[in-house]
Formats: sequence, structure tokens, C-alpha cells
Amino acid sequence: MRVIIKEDAAKCATFVAGYIAYRIKQAKPTSAKPFVLGLPTGSTPLGVYKELIAMYKNKKISFENVVTFNMDEYVGLDENNPQSYHYFMFENFFNHINVKRENIHILNGMTKDYAKECDSYERAIAKAGGIDLFLGGVGSDGHIAFNEPFSSLTSRTRIKTLAPSTIKDNSRFFGGDMQKVPTQALTVGVGTIMDAKEVIIMATGAGKAEAVCQAVEGNINHRWTVSALQTHRHGMIVCDEQAAGGLSAGTKEYFNSIENR
Ligand code: GLP
Repeated sequence: MRVIIKEDAAKCATFVAGYIAYRIKQAKPTSAKPFVLGLPTGSTPLGVYKELIAMYKNKKISFENVVTFNMDEYVGLDENNPQSYHYFMFENFFNHINVKRENIHILNGMTKDYAKECDSYERAIAKAGGIDLFLGGVGSDGHIAFNEPFSSLTSRTRIKTLAPSTIKDNSRFFGGDMQKVPTQALTVGVGTIMDAKEVIIMATGAGKAEAVCQAVEGNINHRWTVSALQTHRHGMIVCDEQAAGGLSAGTKEYFNSIENR
């Protein structure tokens, strides 16, 4: 695992956006062999989306041959609902870049058949050749996508009931009203994320310090689903100083020394 500690959230965003752009360019994607990018919502990746949009506008990157798969979607929110992850992604990213509509994949939280929707999502990922790079955030309780504590570390795309901690954290997007937060979501599994060729988890702010500490220094454990990253051959955590605050001095020194060498 690589752990990259940057001074603040803005520097994390610049680094991650630059890394994604580098990977896309390096792959030289074509319509026959596109670059497949897994994407998250949440406040953490917003800076990355802003930087990628700026790079696209400055003609430094094209998304013409990029296929995207989002991590998750709330059950019961349609794409016109401002709190849906569909709405978030178009508003904050897709509407501002040249990604093709048919290349965008987001789970349909309005489906009547959850199992079918989730199975076809897994099949679509496989048909696209698997995910080249999965970007994710992490919840304060260590969840990745909506793989709440005690999710199977080999889980696949499915419906999940949200943990009280997640409902509380995410209520800030629903006017602070926990009653308005959907109680279920469709989400890729931990196994789906770990199948990606490369995984980057971003964490910023002191609220993520325990999750980062568990992910890096803790045991691989379903209580902190982010810890599954320890099993990935190309896993990377990009965090700011605050989110790295729970790591021991020795751990920080080790990662800083190898990254800055
Ligand atoms: C939600 C999403 C996760 C995200 C998490 C953290 O629960 N399902 O994918 O990582 O929130 O969000 P934020 O970046 O706003 O802290």
C-alpha cells in the first residue's frame, strides 16, 4: 500500500486529479479499449472533479474514451432529486467534460428489482474489461462506497441498509434531517472495488483520522471495510495531515520518507 500524506485537502485533490489524468493518458484509450474509471460521490472528491474539469477545459485531458462506473446510489431517489448521486455526478462532473452519456454507469436506485440491477452492473463492469482505477472516499466509520461496517470483504454489488453513523454523517446533505436520509442504498461490494486494477482512497479532515489509522495500521477486518485495501496489490491512500493524525509518528515518517525520496 502507498500512503501519500499532503498538507491539506486542496493538495490531495491536485495530486489525485493529476494521477488520474496521467493514468488515462498513459493508457492511450480508444473507443475499442477505453479507460474504465470507478468514481465516488461525497465532499472529499469534489476538488478532484474541479481539477479534472479545469484540465479538460485547458485541453490537457479528454474523457472521450473513458467509461465510468459510480460506486453507489441511494434507494428511492430518482436522478432529478438533488440529493441523488446521479444528480451529484452530472452537476459536479459529467456535465462539464466530454464523457459520452452511454459510457456513464450509475446504479438505478429506483429499480423494482434490486438483484437484477446489481447483477447487471457487475456484468457491465466485466464487459467493459474491469475497472482500471477505482477512486473512493471513506466514511468516518471506515466504509467504502456503502459497504458499512461488517460488510463481507468479498461482497459484490447489492442492496445495503445504511448504518446509523452513515445516516448521521450524510444528513448534512439533507438539511441536517436524519429522517430524510434514505435508509438503503445500492452499492458495489468490497470485492468489486478490490477487483479494480488500482484503487485510490482519499481521506481529508480529522473526522477520517481513525478510519485512516485502521486502514493502515489496523488488522484487515470487516469492522473497517477500508482495511481490505491492505490486500490490494495497487492500493493507495491519499490523505491530508488531519486525516493522517491518528497514524503513529513512525508510520508517517516511513511513508513520507519513501514518497519524498
Ligand atoms: C458516502 C458515500 C461514500 C463516501 C462517504 C464519505 O457514504 N457512499 O462513497 O466515501 O460518504 O463522504 P465524504 O467524502 O462526504 O466524507
